[in-house]
This record gives sequence, C-alpha cells and structure tokens, in this order.
Amino acid sequence: MSNSFDRSLKIAPSILAADFANFGAECEAVEAQGADWVHVDVMDGHFVPNISFGPATCAAIRPHIKGVMDVHLMIAPVDPFIDAFAHAGADVITAHVEAGPHIHRTLQAIRGAGAKAGLALNPGTPVEAAIPLLDDVDLVCVMTVNPGFGGQKFIHGQIAKIEALRAAIGDRPVHIEVDGGVDPVTAPHVVAAGADVLVAGSAVFKGGSVSDPDPYGINIAAIRKAAGDGSIRA
Ligand code: DX5
Ligand code: ZN
Repeated sequence: MSNSFDRSLKIAPSILAADFANFGAECEAVEAQGADWVHVDVMDGHFVPNISFGPATCAAIRPHIKGVMDVHLMIAPVDPFIDAFAHAGADVITAHVEAGPHIHRTLQAIRGAGAKAGLALNPGTPVEAAIPLLDDVDLVCVMTVNPGFGGQKFIHGQIAKIEALRAAIGDRPVHIEVDGGVDPVTAPHVVAAGADVLVAGSAVFKGGSVSDPDPYGINIAAIRKAAGDGSIRA
C-alpha cells in the first residue's frame, strides 16, 4: 500500500559519466560509495542525438549491481526492445512519452515484462501528458535537461512541473525522478518540489575513478546533505 511506499531520497548515479571501459567496476564502486540506484542511459542516435549502449551492456553490468538497475530508454521506437532490457535485468524501464504512438501500451508492456514502468517527460512535454497515466506507472522522470548528453545546465523552469506532478500523484505509489544537471545546488530545489529519485552523472563521478573512488562518496554525500533529509512526505 502507499503507506509503506518508499519516498525517501535516492541518489541514482548515471553511468553515462563513468569510465566506459570499466562499467562493472564503476557500478560496484559507486554502490560502495553510497549510491541507492544505478541509472543506465540508453541512447539510439535517433530519438536523441547521441549513441550510448544497449541491452547487451545492461546484461553485462547487471551482476555488478546489487540494488536497483534503473534503465532510461532514450530510443524510438521503444516497444520492440522492452523485452530485451527486461531480460537484461532492468528493475525499472523508463520510456519517453514521444517514443512511440501508444505510450499506455508501452507502459503495459514494461510491466508485462516484469519491470517497473517509468514515464519520462522532456522539458517541452507538459505535465498533463502524465496525468492520465498515473495509475499505470511506477515512476515519472522529469527531465531537467534535453536528453542526449550529460553535463548540461539544469533548466529551472521544470521545477513547477515537479510540483504539479507531486500534487497530481497524491498518495499513489509513484516515484518522481529528476534527471539532468542535478548537483548540490539544484538538488534542494527538486527535493522541495517533490522529487525522491535524483539522477546525477557528472556531479557524482567528477574527480574520482575506480582506483580512487572516494570522491564518488564525497559527491553523493554532498548532494544528500544539500537536499536535507530528503524525505518527501505524502
Ligand atoms: C541525459 C541523461 C542523464 C544524464 C545526466 O540525457 O538522461 O541521465 O546522464 O547527466 P548529468 O547529471 O551530468 O546532467
Ligand atoms: Zn537518464
């Protein structure tokens, strides 16, 4: 029931900012340094102007992640690939509103494949796109940059969308994830607006490496501290 739904703060480092030659070790290092989830950004060079990696990479890193593998699909069409990412071990699969002609069917397919269903809203996508789907999702991802690249500037105008979404969700068991430009400066704003899952790539991985992972822990702690206790009360 929603009473036990976990709205505590969760930091989800994006491995897009990790060493691509060392993903397994990077996942282990960032979890050991305090990550709650591991965020995996899949890009196709079509839906977004960048290519990252696909289901084989997800399957390869899965044994190196103890917690939640949070797979963000920036691909279109998305439906033909849902089963592949579910079989790769994704716990959460997030698709964009614009990734196919029938987003409700996509969300059903994700749940049908055994994963939690996430819905991503681009900065230009209105919050209203999520409202009819709130009983069909486990997570809504509010993009605070245009998807495609790490290290972009946080778009402050999206905070009102997070607030509206939080009000619309009410006590439904739906996470609000924020993705893009999250750091110790922006984190307090998104948490105050109602987010409970903070994706952070460059702000977590900067300054560290698998052979010197302590900066990951320092960076995660800095985001957590800046965000206060992070608990979002329903
Ligand atoms: C953007 C991705 C993000 C990105 C975040 O398309 O979805 O997850 O890697 O990177 P930072 O935290 O560097 O903005
Ligand atoms: Zn992402």
